[in-house]
Amino acid sequence: MPFTANKAFKRAPRMLVAAKDMYYTTDDGRQILDGTAGLWCVNAGHCRESITAAIREQAGVMDYAPPFQMGHPLAFELAKQLVGMLPTGIDRIFFGNSGSEAVDTSLKIALAYWQAKGEPQRVRFIGRQRGYHGVGFGGISVGGIEANRRQFAAQMLPAVDHLPHTHDLSTNAYTRGQPANGAHFADALEEMVAKYDASTIAAVILEPVAGSTGVIIPPKGYLQRIREICDKHGILLIFDEVITGFGRLGTSFGATKFGVTPDMMTVAKGITNAAVPMGAVCARGSIYDAIVNSSTAGIELFHGYTYSGHPLAAAAGLATLELYRSEALFERAASLESYWADAVHSLRGIPHVIDLRNIGIVAGIELEPRAGAPGARAFDVFLKCFEDGVMIRSTGDTLALSPPLILEKAHIDRMFDVVGNAIKHVS
Ligand SMILES: Cc1ncc(COP(=O)(O)O)c(C=O)c1O
Repeated sequence: MPFTANKAFKRAPRMLVAAKDMYYTTDDGRQILDGTAGLWCVNAGHCRESITAAIREQAGVMDYAPPFQMGHPLAFELAKQLVGMLPTGIDRIFFGNSGSEAVDTSLKIALAYWQAKGEPQRVRFIGRQRGYHGVGFGGISVGGIEANRRQFAAQMLPAVDHLPHTHDLSTNAYTRGQPANGAHFADALEEMVAKYDASTIAAVILEPVAGSTGVIIPPKGYLQRIREICDKHGILLIFDEVITGFGRLGTSFGATKFGVTPDMMTVAKGITNAAVPMGAVCARGSIYDAIVNSSTAGIELFHGYTYSGHPLAAAAGLATLELYRSEALFERAASLESYWADAVHSLRGIPHVIDLRNIGIVAGIELEPRAGAPGARAFDVFLKCFEDGVMIRSTGDTLALSPPLILEKAHIDRMFDVVGNAIKHVS
């Protein structure tokens, strides 16, 4: 099982058998309030009829079309609609099936771009400590979660370095929204430029808000500073928006929220409301043009997946984007942000809570680790919440919440009530 303690799970399985709107149903018939939108992906709530109908219909019309040397209209239509939501200038889409594939694709596109531009020595990637970019070899190399690399450390991408993370409780504990301190963490990029020479650096890849590593919110001015340094040295900037995309922050994307436009964005999860797997790289037209125009070969990019732009995923994606628009779910998330923030910060003072942070409809609740057992306290809280009917995530000693954007205030009250009591109970 993926990222699961197999032996422990098999001793006490947690099985989900149905889902609707804000709730899962377990195999013993219990209703579980979904505090995590599955895995940060079911942004419009579960089993929405318009998405289900679109998938059902497409499955009967054309189940599959090969994406190599063939096309089908739904994939182009989805690309067009996606472009309409992206920052100006990002107007080319390459589809895959997951966030991990999107990340590895973006790294390959960066290398192909620099070859096309006549700077093939630009091969180095800069990621960030505690970054999560999926589980491909590219993703774990640029990612900064040590545990995800340890078993495979013998074979990482060779030319990679990592910026420091920006999590600093000494100055930023209990911040609502973006911390005031920490833009200076971006200056480490200048140090890397000095160390490696900008002419060897292909791209910097970052999550605008790091999610899987425990909810790390960018300090004010940090992403702007990263963008400035990349511009100064001609380095590509990739935002991994697999979690921050599609309304999670109360805007379409993190780039929109923070007013910083990268050169590429990776997306997945919320693109289809998770109903069919899909991921994508969104790139500036200038990147597409450089690669396609410079090529003398028939095929300009030797890369792709059997299921790139799969018809069922494309149909699900179109229905999902329509639902986001018709129910104004990103605006709804924005309108609930301050109620959400109050609920998050109401947990202050509970024993073992050492930080509370929030942005959009995301919460991070950091707990004091148990001596000699990092992560154990948060995992016990996760188990207790599940027993009490609320699904949350634990990552290290941080609890993360990111529910579907259709939630009501009463759901927020229940989530934080259950989480607060679970922390007290476990302590
Ligand atoms: C920022 C980020 N990038 C990439 C991924 C990997 O996505 P997937 O699990 O779909 O491969 C994730 C998954 O949580 C993510 O949060």
